[in-house]
Amino acid sequence: MTKIAVFASGSGSNFQALAEAIQTEGVPAEISILISDQPDAYAITRAEHLGIPVFVFRTKEYSSKAEFEGLIVEKLREAGVDIIFLAGYMRLIGETLLTAFAGKIVNIHPSLLPAFPGKDAIGQAFNAGVKVTGVTVHLVDEGMDTGPIIDQESVRIDEEDTRDTLQKKIQQIEHQLYPKVMKQLVSAAAKREEVKK
Ligand code: GAR
Repeated sequence: MTKIAVFASGSGSNFQALAEAIQTEGVPAEISILISDQPDAYAITRAEHLGIPVFVFRTKEYSSKAEFEGLIVEKLREAGVDIIFLAGYMRLIGETLLTAFAGKIVNIHPSLLPAFPGKDAIGQAFNAGVKVTGVTVHLVDEGMDTGPIIDQESVRIDEEDTRDTLQKKIQQIEHQLYPKVMKQLVSAAAKREEVKK
């Protein structure tokens, strides 16, 4: 059973999509913990409904990123986490987490990276007038949305689209693509475990 941590700062719709895929598709994984830096995030309410433990922290209560990430690493170890999925976690991952979970942190970003990294990628693409944007799932490195790409899906921006309709289209794709990649990574992890036995 692969143990997953999800990090979310906001609504948590991608977190919910991962949790539902595990439940409905019999994926041999469990979301062992939700980590959030925003005490008011709706993702926390979703975790409560799903019966998933939560660790919430406020960055201002710590003197450095190394300090709060050190505490997160402790929580992840306690929960036996194998792999981390960032789902709208609006912070750059620091050295402490990157070193502790090297090659095991995955992110979803609402554009076809390397185009439109950073904040409000959907608005950036809409304002740039591009006709195609999309969704990227990638491994996390020390940069902002720069790690090796695992999978991508494109989304057309039609004449009648507004920023809101584009966001809806992108989120629909996200809710399919992230669970798909999660299943691939869980099955790869299960195969590695088999080899070890
Ligand atoms: C998602 O669209 C995700 O791709 C984006 O935040 C949204 C979170 O939605 N992430 C980033 O922009 C990361 N750079 P959710 O809270 O409903 O899952």
